[in-house]
Amino acid sequence: MSSNDMALFFLSMLLLSVLFISLLLRFLVYKQKSQTPENLPPGRTGLPFLGESLEFLSTGRKGYPEKFIYDRMAKYSSQVFKTSLLGESAAVFCGAAGNKFLFSNENKLVNAWWPRSVNKIFPSSLQTSSKEESKKMRKMLPGFMKPEALQRYIGIMDTIAQRHFESGWDNKKEVVVFPLAKRFTFWLACRLFLSIEDPEHVAKFADPFNAIASGIIAIPIDLPGTPFNRAIKASNVIRKELRAIIKQRKIDLAENRASPTQDILSYMLLTADENGQHMNEMDIADKILGLLIGGHDTASAAITFVVKYLAELPEIYNEVYKEQMEIANSKKPGELLNWDDIQKMRYSWNVACEVMRLAPPLQGAFREAINDFIFAGFSIPKGWKLYWSANSTHRNPECFPEPEKFDPTRFEGNGPAPYTYVPFGGGPRMCPGKEYARLEILVFMHNVVRRFKWEKLLPGEKIIVNPMPIPAEGLPVRLHAHKA
Ligand code: HEM
Repeated sequence: MSSNDMALFFLSMLLLSVLFISLLLRFLVYKQKSQTPENLPPGRTGLPFLGESLEFLSTGRKGYPEKFIYDRMAKYSSQVFKTSLLGESAAVFCGAAGNKFLFSNENKLVNAWWPRSVNKIFPSSLQTSSKEESKKMRKMLPGFMKPEALQRYIGIMDTIAQRHFESGWDNKKEVVVFPLAKRFTFWLACRLFLSIEDPEHVAKFADPFNAIASGIIAIPIDLPGTPFNRAIKASNVIRKELRAIIKQRKIDLAENRASPTQDILSYMLLTADENGQHMNEMDIADKILGLLIGGHDTASAAITFVVKYLAELPEIYNEVYKEQMEIANSKKPGELLNWDDIQKMRYSWNVACEVMRLAPPLQGAFREAINDFIFAGFSIPKGWKLYWSANSTHRNPECFPEPEKFDPTRFEGNGPAPYTYVPFGGGPRMCPGKEYARLEILVFMHNVVRRFKWEKLLPGEKIIVNPMPIPAEGLPVRLHAHKA
């Protein structure tokens, strides 16, 4: 072949390749167009695979999780915008209308969905999805969280609170609040779910839990050292420990050394489902792990922010103090808190509600579209992941005038408009631990204000949201014990 022929040959090959590639591209674009509905919500999907996950996670880690939402609500639509999170096409539903839509279409247009990372951290022993598991949990919990049972816990919560303050706060000049709040809520959960009371056992058991929360909403890369990898390892350690506790409890129940009503573990071991089947050990371990996680970091974040706001707002502190001292003074020496006392803590609960408005422990949750549907005039394709976010209403001046102002009176009378205040979610999937959380927060508030007034040691301490909000240094405070 002459050099001219060679050049011609390569040129025609090049032209053929260009033609082929452009035809392929046209075909792909056409195919995608013909499959994608016309009127998707506005927004951007960001980088391949990562989508906008980095912005989503990093605004939280910088302490402004609401920024991700509000920037996009302003730029695209105040009702719904498109994005891509944790490897999935997603739409973020905003405002009271978005919350209402998701909460009232549960199991009709949407279902619960957890990021893939959650299914890996909590692989079910039954090989069902976490969706199925959470359905079972919902059936199981009311027995344990029913009013008669909750009323019994108040005295136990008060006893543990007193022990907690004796060991962690009394006679101290300074404390770091967040680790103590975690110790308190975890101690309660260990006692009420598993009858573990020994503080040393509780402390040993608590360590691996710290790794789990930050792995749940993380980019699911399972390599040594990633938060996701640490969370998987930690959940295996806990499950092993739980199985040992369950085995021992079975023996104790059979030999009458444990009571059928002493805690949720006995309840789970002895309660059969509609087909007369009892749950197996692995399944119970998974359920209790879910409860320990669900109830541990959320309530301790709420408690930490109660302490933070009470330090910053002395007039609010004084009102809470007055309410709690009236209750304290009405009791005989050594008498524990009871249900009637909790009902009298109206103002304190309004304060806690306002704290959870400004610092919602859970930022939001995912759902999955189980059908194509239209929301706010936009098409949502089946399979898309949908996210509701507490902040899209909690800090919205249309829902809460002067949203940055701390004002517990918002919760007086009829309280906030429906679907605007959603720290516990809403609809059929609303947090089943809400009442339990109310009790533990109020019991804590009673015990802390009775003993101390306090001031923040780091007035400008940053807040990090990962995935729960926490003060960056754990909220160190100087304590001033009340004179006896
Ligand atoms: C201040 C404390 C708490 C807050 C703010 C909170 C908030 C939430 C939220 C927003 C959800 C998700 C709802 C959704 O998917 O839309 C949820 C679910 C859940 N919470 Fe809580 N929670 C708290 C305490 C607790 C406690 C103490 C327990 C257990 C004793 C608990 C157990 C659960 C469980 C098991 C679920 C999953 C329910 C399901 O998937 O159907 N939570 N919580």
